[in-house]
Amino acid sequence: MKKIVVFTGAGVSAESGLATFRDADGLWAQYRIEDVCTPEALVRNRALVIEFYNKRRKELLTTLPNAAHTAIAELEKHFDVEVVTQNVDDLHERAGSTKVLHLHGELKKLRSERNPELIVPIEGWEQQIDDRAEDGALLRPHIVFFGEAVPMYERAIEIVNRADILIIVGTSLAVYPAASLVRYTSSHAQLFVVDPGEPDCSAVRNPMVHIKEKAGAGVPMLVEKLIANLK
Ligand code: OAD
Repeated sequence: MKKIVVFTGAGVSAESGLATFRDADGLWAQYRIEDVCTPEALVRNRALVIEFYNKRRKELLTTLPNAAHTAIAELEKHFDVEVVTQNVDDLHERAGSTKVLHLHGELKKLRSERNPELIVPIEGWEQQIDDRAEDGALLRPHIVFFGEAVPMYERAIEIVNRADILIIVGTSLAVYPAASLVRYTSSHAQLFVVDPGEPDCSAVRNPMVHIKEKAGAGVPMLVEKLIANLK
């Protein structure tokens, strides 16, 4: 069975109603990264950081997977599929994808500030500012902040390296080290990018096809073609 790796960013969830980061209407036009997404912000401005992620979690509860998530899940009937996502939502899982690696953490989890291995699910959307873990330490969102290590990165490299086909969806490829994953494909891998914009593909080594469509249209179309080519 051919292996397909799907590498996604905020654009895959845009048509579900979740804002991207760097588009004109994106989250980083409304918030400064250094106020809500750094370890320093969590120390200096704990209430704002927790409120920011509470808002994201609350909107996720009323959000549904879109046609792109569904088509990616559908691929599993025909291919060995792994999803590597920069997204902290759970829309790939809810659409039915069974192997999803979250590079930047997960909104529906919190973790101990003392022990990064002590990760707990959160019920509902609201983290209280003084919620504590079993070890007595304060809980924090299970999110990789800017300036922090990306613990899943090595595993993601191994996954991308085994791909026969890499599909990149809805990411500006502006954030490292995530963006450099595209360098780790084997020389025989076929690459597709689905994005209505112009992601920074300068690190891509293999021949690449850019499908300049929104994910909700472009991904189902590509998936249909890949399945048809098997026959
Ligand atoms: P960006 O906001 O940087 O990029 C979004 C990409 O999605 C752009 O290339 C858009 O052209 C594209 N896009 C917009 N609408 C789309 C649609 N309907 N269908 C397909 N593509 C669409 O988001 P990411 O690349 O995911 O990290 O950002 C990477 C990381 O930066 C995030 O994981 C987050 C952020 O800061 C952390 O918070 C740690």
